[in-house]
Amino acid sequence: MADRITVTLDGPAGVGKTTLARNVAKKLGIAYMDTGAMFRSIGWKLGKEAEKLTPAEIEQRLTAFEFSLSGAGAKTILYLNGTPVGDEIRTEEVALMASAVATLPVVRTFLKANQQKLAAQVSLIAEGRDMGTVVFPEARYKFFLDATPEERARRRYDQLIAAGETPDMKELTEQIRKRDHQDRSRVVAPLRPADDAIIIDTTDLDIEGVFAAIISNIQ
Ligand code: C5P
Repeated sequence: MADRITVTLDGPAGVGKTTLARNVAKKLGIAYMDTGAMFRSIGWKLGKEAEKLTPAEIEQRLTAFEFSLSGAGAKTILYLNGTPVGDEIRTEEVALMASAVATLPVVRTFLKANQQKLAAQVSLIAEGRDMGTVVFPEARYKFFLDATPEERARRRYDQLIAAGETPDMKELTEQIRKRDHQDRSRVVAPLRPADDAIIIDTTDLDIEGVFAAIISNIQ
């Protein structure tokens, strides 16, 4: 497909990447690849045992996994070995497992190959931490979203309140800072904007404003 496009959307936790990636995918009629969900799935499948395995053993286990995509826009579905990835990966415990396996070069290499294979098949927007820098350095459209840790914690606070939970603002800000530090300071594929990415500071922008900036740039 000669007119296939890859859009990359990177940024720290809680910056609004998922909502934006879905909306942009819908507007452009392309698929949406949630690479955080891939790391979460691998973390979940390997479980706590991952810490005790050698890189060679992990590499061997990874050969049993393959991700695929179907559909487009908000209806995009991510599959692991033919089964849709569900809400079982959306817990803080799994996020921590994802964060742990995300530091392992063997896991990153495996997922990078799978992500590149999917982007070779369909147009998509890839959301994550290293899409513009490592996985799709040749992508034509690259965006990096940022916002202060306080603002990202406030957004997450509002989401949790809306979901009927009783979050602690201080604790949320602390968690966000911790995850930022882990993601930005790791040796392999640290979170940083690609040199040719468009950086959007969303601290004072609403989601519609960021969406409009991305779409007008692509179109
Ligand atoms: O985006 P999400 O919060 O679902 O990602 C879970 C974890 O996976 C992150 O904390 C990050 O460490 C890792 N990740 C990554 N590279 C990506 C996507 C996610 O290292 N491209």
